[in-house]
Amino acid sequence: MKKVGFGILGAGMISGIHADALRKSSKAELVAVCDVRTENAQKLVNDYAPTAKVYSDFDAMLADPRVEVVNIVTPNHLHTQFVLKAAAAGKHVLCEKPPAMSLAETDQMIAACEKAGVKFGIFVQSRMREPMRYIKSALDSGRFGKILRVDVQMKWFRNADYYKMDAWRSNRKCGAGVTIQHAFHYIDILQYLMGRGAKVYAEMRNLAHPEVALEDTLDAEIVFANGVRGFVQASTALWPGNDVRIEVYGTDGTAVMSGTAMSAWKFKDERPEDEIARKAGSAAATAGGDPKALPSEDHQFVIDDCVDAIRENREVCIPCSSVRGTLEIALGMYKSDKEKKAIELPFSDEDSIWA
Ligand SMILES: NC(=O)c1ccc[n+]([C@@H]2O[C@H](COP(=O)([O-])OP(=O)(O)OC[C@H]3O[C@@H](n4cnc5c(N)ncnc54)[C@H](O)[C@@H]3O)[C@@H](O)[C@H]2O)c1
Repeated sequence: MKKVGFGILGAGMISGIHADALRKSSKAELVAVCDVRTENAQKLVNDYAPTAKVYSDFDAMLADPRVEVVNIVTPNHLHTQFVLKAAAAGKHVLCEKPPAMSLAETDQMIAACEKAGVKFGIFVQSRMREPMRYIKSALDSGRFGKILRVDVQMKWFRNADYYKMDAWRSNRKCGAGVTIQHAFHYIDILQYLMGRGAKVYAEMRNLAHPEVALEDTLDAEIVFANGVRGFVQASTALWPGNDVRIEVYGTDGTAVMSGTAMSAWKFKDERPEDEIARKAGSAAATAGGDPKALPSEDHQFVIDDCVDAIRENREVCIPCSSVRGTLEIALGMYKSDKEKKAIELPFSDEDSIWA
């Protein structure tokens, strides 16, 4: 079957993961790359897809009939305008996380994609890691019993050069900061597992990056609408950085994902197939100390799923609508830190957060 043509907008640091995933895919193909810095786009094409076309103008790439899906890989605060343009041009969209800097923009993008009849997925790809798929399925079948706690520990490190690479990386209004930029993936996993957040309390600090006016450390508690509490400890200050841990504790079972591997899978009703679940995932690095040390398999999962969703005329595996609740929790964390109190969700004055 003919491969579906993808275009990448934004050929910066993480674009190689997208291009690598597309190169490995048997369903999708990188046909175009666009960046205002043409040299970035040209390098990505040279490295991963020599037959792909280089663009410096997004409208021109959107006019290319070979481009059926656009991956938006620009800095966080620029996602919305490009998603809206892609939808208006009738292209399916896969956008990097976070979807946008506000719920209003997120709702606008969801509505535009719905109206245009195009798919709109978000790369919170850690949701789709093999161990997470086992955990979600056990949760949905009630195997954990009553859920008691869900926790995240993301003890990462980013050096001063990381924050200086581009201006947006040290500007909160552009989506920098450990909460919305890094921990977003794992706040998303808690939201994916537990559903809507009802209340958040967060404290943010800058422990080790005096050169930037940002939080490099987040300690937060989320109370989900189902009554379960989740704790998030996230940092980019903790050298040399460790694998992230996601822990799920129920009355009847416990599961822990460390990095990309299952590190605990224990149920009171032990089953023969549990041996397979215990081996889920791999020892691949997950950006604990190096932002580029990411496996491309998770991105490939999202890309391949999008192709299947187009062919089968169904929803993608991570629709933006399913990530809205994550953004609401993350924004609630910023509001909580600013106002030094717990915040009930939903809240209305989101514009005050970045003021
Ligand atoms: N899913 C993940 O695991 C993961 C990991 C890292 C980054 N990200 C996300 O990926 C996105 C990009 O991050 P990055 O680290 O690659 O950023 P980056 O700054 O390294 O790259 C962004 C690229 O976009 C280009 N760009 C900026 N404005 C543009 C415009 N108007 N038109 C065309 N191109 C433009 C820049 O020239 C640059 O090449 C962000 O949303 C980030 O949050 C996701």
